[in-house]
Amino acid sequence: MGERNPVTDIAVATNNPGKLEELRKIANGWPVRLMGPQELGLVLDALETGSSFDENALIKARSLYWRAGGWVIADDSGLVVDYLGGAPGIYSSRYAGDAATDRENCDLLLDRLKKAGPGNRQAHFHCSLAVISPDGQEALYHGRTDGSIARTASSGTTGFGYDPVFVPLGGQDTMAELPPYEKNVISHRGHAFRLFLEQQFARPAGLERER
Ligand code: IMP
Repeated sequence: MGERNPVTDIAVATNNPGKLEELRKIANGWPVRLMGPQELGLVLDALETGSSFDENALIKARSLYWRAGGWVIADDSGLVVDYLGGAPGIYSSRYAGDAATDRENCDLLLDRLKKAGPGNRQAHFHCSLAVISPDGQEALYHGRTDGSIARTASSGTTGFGYDPVFVPLGGQDTMAELPPYEKNVISHRGHAFRLFLEQQFARPAGLERER
């Protein structure tokens, strides 16, 4: 398990290996080390009972902070489709049921949008990133990626979740077809996480500032 450095080691409250991997890539070059619950010898069992992305992110971050201390972050993110009244929203990971796979969630979304024309397929990913600093101070950072929902799922393998059906604004490929570097530059999670890194850590020379 190894020693935890209180200045540079950040505990990440997620059981999703795809998210942890993305966050690690975004943090590449920054003087931080991200540690999942497993590496800390902990099991994350927080229930997402909040009624907003912010509330759920804070619930997850607090549950890990109480046990691990130090820097803790948790993101609650999801897809928001205006035509569907904001669904799947905070229920993104369980849109097609509590144990739904990414594939089942994407299929249900495509089905619900079957009758929606091009003007009604716009959507965005939202990310609320809750941060608790070693002295217990809480903060929230937000990120957003605009785009639209494709007619069919693509076969790209980058990312997870709704990436195979989400086409970022101004592009033609789905998020699942972009190289990980490109996804992380435009992603809701990348925006929110870099805002936090910019504010709390010394930006390494050569890394561009978040716009
Ligand atoms: P959370 O773990 O409760 O934040 O749920 C997030 C859910 O939103 C995931 O399981 C995905 O279904 C969806 N989601 C969040 N971020 C992304 C992304 O970057 N790409 C695709 N789907 C995402």
